[in-house]
Amino acid sequence: MMNASFGDRPLSMCESRTIWWDDGLWLIDQTLLPGELIPIQIKSIKQLVEAIKSLRVRGAPALGAAGAYGVALAAELSGATNYLDMISELEVAADMIRGSRPTAINLSWGVDRALRAATGQESSEEIREAALLEAEEIAGEDIRINKAIGKNGAKLLEDGDNVLTHCNAGRLACVGWGTALGVIRSAVAQGKSIHVYSCETRPLFQGSRLTAWELANDDIPVTLICDSMSGSLMRKGKIDKVIVGADRITRDAVFNKIGTYSHAVLAKYHKIPFYVAAPLSTFDRMHVEEDIAVEERDPQEICFLGKARLAPEGIDVYNPAFDATPLELVAGLITEKGIFRPPLMPPL
Ligand code: MRU
Repeated sequence: MMNASFGDRPLSMCESRTIWWDDGLWLIDQTLLPGELIPIQIKSIKQLVEAIKSLRVRGAPALGAAGAYGVALAAELSGATNYLDMISELEVAADMIRGSRPTAINLSWGVDRALRAATGQESSEEIREAALLEAEEIAGEDIRINKAIGKNGAKLLEDGDNVLTHCNAGRLACVGWGTALGVIRSAVAQGKSIHVYSCETRPLFQGSRLTAWELANDDIPVTLICDSMSGSLMRKGKIDKVIVGADRITRDAVFNKIGTYSHAVLAKYHKIPFYVAAPLSTFDRMHVEEDIAVEERDPQEICFLGKARLAPEGIDVYNPAFDATPLELVAGLITEKGIFRPPLMPPL
């Protein structure tokens, strides 16, 4: 990965993790990539909420870790000396963090896990320790789980495959390794030659800024395309498989970055397997598609590219961050517990 430094602090943590604790909460600011690889320290819950909303930290598993570390940060910042005061401060912080992005289930899952660990304690000091321990556990677990997803999914890829992916489900979207890109990394580590088509992913370009950057850094052959080019490539027989990540998998659908559904429909039409790689923490068995609120983002994300205006002032804009792909379009759900072909789901 890129060789850089940040003041006196070496960037070695950026090499292995996207988010970590080192005398406080640190994360790679993903909005600056691919230009700059810079870690920022998060010093307040308000700053964490801003970082999540503006996608400095993003991707479902990374948000899970961010949520848990957020609870640990709230405990660290709290001046409360007794259990009840501290827990009520943590609950306020937890609500703020959970509400910052509603669709990716991992965010509230991470918050809830750290909060549960904290509430099992007695003193404020024990609460601080337990919340941080749980956040560290989630972060370490994420890398182990992604490696298991990678190992399971690599079986589906053959030497010479051309794989299409959308958005960024790589190490940047997780604590390390990645889900969809983790499968590709694991296949490459087994000696298979894999070529990736990375969709740029309008409007925020996670595909061009992050996926293309990650794969190029790992010397995995990657070709960048506009989102609308996938159908024509499939028609020409240039794509063997599609693999994406997920923000939430309900009983009937996979929520992922807007544009995913179109690739899934096109893949079905062209008889190309469409796979989803995700940890069990992304599954939501309590809900179906229509229950889920899809985050709608600022119209300016579509109307501007940096400072350049792309659309007439005052134009009506629809900017949902995610779409839902019905499970019948999914050839396999690749998890740490194996591959499940819908309607089969992983055991609870
Ligand atoms: O809006 P983002 O960039 O957070 O959206 C992320 C995605 O849609 C990813 O594909 C998803 O979180 C899977 S991450 C392993």
